[in-house]
Amino acid sequence: MFIGDIVGEPGRTALSATLPSLIERYEPTLVIANGENVAGGLGITKRTALKLLDAGVDVLTTGNHVYRHRDVYPFLDESDKIVRPANYLESNPGRGHTVIEKAGVRWAVVNLSGNVFMHAAYSPFHIVDRILGRLGDDADAIVVDFHAETTSEKVAMGWHLDGRVLAVIGTHTHVPTAEGRVLPQGTAFVSDVGMTGSRAGVIGVKREQIIERFLTQMPVKFETAVEDPWVMGCVIDVREDGLASAFEQVMVPAEQ
Ligand SMILES: [Fe+2]
Ligand SMILES: [Fe+2]
Repeated sequence: MFIGDIVGEPGRTALSATLPSLIERYEPTLVIANGENVAGGLGITKRTALKLLDAGVDVLTTGNHVYRHRDVYPFLDESDKIVRPANYLESNPGRGHTVIEKAGVRWAVVNLSGNVFMHAAYSPFHIVDRILGRLGDDADAIVVDFHAETTSEKVAMGWHLDGRVLAVIGTHTHVPTAEGRVLPQGTAFVSDVGMTGSRAGVIGVKREQIIERFLTQMPVKFETAVEDPWVMGCVIDVREDGLASAFEQVMVPAEQ
């Protein structure tokens, strides 16, 4: 199971309240969640990361906001349960991929940043090829969180990795796309898996503030939207060979 960008306290509360019944319903072997927006809407802290891990998340992925809070840097270096984009500088805190064992399966989770309308040190296409080469036989199933802005770059990554990884899951834009499926060679793919948090805002921010920004074209303080929280993500069925047999979108209103 993969949970899309958890936005602020409303997103975290939504996930904690809803994950138990999602786990009961889908019985996932592994739960991955993108936590790049969990601390006040931007970034992640050690405290919020640990809360998500306590709530039932096995591995956290991140993205462009990962370095917003300095307090998380040592945690990024220490923990094998959180990854940051692998195509950032090697000198940046944290790791770009991790391998954790659960239910007798060695799961590799790789985080990548897009390079179109975003800034990453290296091409995600070259870096992911290098990581897959290094992983070799050390992983049974590989999940890639591709944190990117444009659908074209994400679709290209899906095709680039088709048949080589279990899944390529798009994150960052917070709006779920409708084309989730298993590609012909066995890789589950979706351009954007959506976000976990308020559906009353604009990709997680209070809508009146975003509208004011567009109307006035002046700086406006952004706060996390609260009302109407939803949990969005997907569930992927895994074959014996570590590739995918089914993709299902998850999009449910948060439980209270
Ligand atoms: Fe995000
Ligand atoms: Fe992002």
